[in-house]
Amino acid sequence: MILVTGGAGFIGGNFVLDWLAGSDEPVINLDALTYAGNLHTLDALKNDARHVFVHGDIGDTQLVSQLLKQYQPRAVVNFAAESHVDRSIHGPADFIQTNILGTFNLLESVRAYWNDLPEPEKSDFRFLHVSTDEVYGSLEKDDPPFAETHRYEPNSPYSASKAASDHLVRAWHHTYGLPVLTTNCSNNYGPYHFPEKLIPLVILNALAGKPLPIYGDGQQIRDWLYVRDHCSAIRRVLEAGRLGETYNVGGWNEKANLDVVKTICTLLDEMQPRADGQSYAEQITFVTDRAGHDRRYAIDARKLERELGWKPAETFESGIRKTVQWYLDNTEWTRNVTTGAYREWTTRQYGA
Ligand code: NAD
Ligand code: DAU
Repeated sequence: MILVTGGAGFIGGNFVLDWLAGSDEPVINLDALTYAGNLHTLDALKNDARHVFVHGDIGDTQLVSQLLKQYQPRAVVNFAAESHVDRSIHGPADFIQTNILGTFNLLESVRAYWNDLPEPEKSDFRFLHVSTDEVYGSLEKDDPPFAETHRYEPNSPYSASKAASDHLVRAWHHTYGLPVLTTNCSNNYGPYHFPEKLIPLVILNALAGKPLPIYGDGQQIRDWLYVRDHCSAIRRVLEAGRLGETYNVGGWNEKANLDVVKTICTLLDEMQPRADGQSYAEQITFVTDRAGHDRRYAIDARKLERELGWKPAETFESGIRKTVQWYLDNTEWTRNVTTGAYREWTTRQYGA
C-alpha cells in the first residue's frame, strides 16, 4: 500500500480518487483536516476498504511512525501543506510549521522506517514530495519557462516555505540516501478546488452575483494544468522517476489572469446565463494587487515528457469547460466547504 499525506485537499483528494479508480493497491490517507481539507471530497470512498483515512499531522512523529510500522507502505506521497499565497502573506507561521517543520518531521519518521526495511523493500521504497513552480520565482515576459535547473528564487512566505521543504528532501537523499523524488508543478485547476483560489472563486462569485476580484492589472501569467493530469504525472514519476531527481510538471497553458476570468464568464454565459441577459463579465472588478505578486510562471515539462513519456490529456479549453460544468453539477460540495470560516476569510481578504 501507499501512504498519502494531505489526501483530503484539492490535489491529494483527486490523487486518491484516481489512484483507487485505476488500482486495487490500498491508500492510507493522513490529513490534519485544516480549513482546506474536506472529507466530502472522499465521499465516494466511504465504504471502500482500500481507503483508510487517518486524521493527523505530518509533524506528529509518534503517529506517523506508528502508521508506517503498522501499514508498511512501499511509498509515501507528500501533498500535505499550507498552499494559499494570500494566506501566507496574512499569517506565515502555519506555513513554516507545516511546510518546513512538518516536512522535516515526516522525513525523519520515514527515514527511521526506511532504514529498518529489509531488502528488496528498502531499495524499492519511494518518498515523493509534491512541490510547486513558485520556488523558482517570477519570469519576465520573454524569459524561457522554468527548467529543473532554474535557480531557486522564492518570493512569498508560501514559496519560501516550499523551497525550504524541497531543500530538506534533497538533503535527506544526498546525506542519508533516502530514495526521494520531487515534482514541481504549475497552477492546477479542476474538481474539488477550494474556492479561495482564483478559478473556483470566480465561478462561485459569478453564480452568486458577487464581484470577480482581479488583482492589479490582471496581466499576471500562470501556466494552468488540469488536476487529473498532475495526478497522472505523479503516478508516472512514482513508477519510473530516477532517484533524487526533480521533475517539472506543467500544461503548456500560459494565460493572463484576466483572460482566464473572461473565459470562465463566457462559459457561464453559455451554460447558465444570467437572468438579466447580461454577461458575467459585467461583474469583473479590479482590486488592490497582492503584495510581492509574481508576474509570470511557466513550466518547461520536457524532462518529464522525454524521460517518462508523460503528456497532459487536457487542453486548457477542454479542462476549464469540464471544471465549470463540475461546479454547476456539485453545488452540495461547495455548500459544505463554504462554511463560516470561509466567509471570514473572504471578508478579511476582499472586504464586506
Ligand atoms: P490544499 O490546501 O487544497 O490541501 C492541503 C491538504 O493538506 C489539506 O487537506 C490539509 O488539511 C492538509 N494539511 C495541511 N497541513 C497538514 C499537516 N500539518 N498534516 C497533515 N495534513 C495537512 O492544497 P493543494 O492545492 O491540494 O496542494 C497540494 C500540494 O501540492 C501542496 O504541497 C502544494 O504546495 C502543492 N502544489 C499545489 C498546486 C496548486 O495549484 N494547487 C500547484 C503546485 C503544487
Ligand atoms: O503555481 C503553483 C501555485 O499555484 C501553487 O503552488 C499554489 O499552492 C496555488 O495556490 C497556486 O498559487 P497562485 O497564487 O498562482 O494561485 P491563486 O489561485 O491564488 O491565484 C492565481 C492568480 O490569480 C494569481 O496571479 C493571483 C490572481 N488572483 C487570485 C485571487 C484569489 C486574483 O487576481 N484575484 C483573486 O481573488
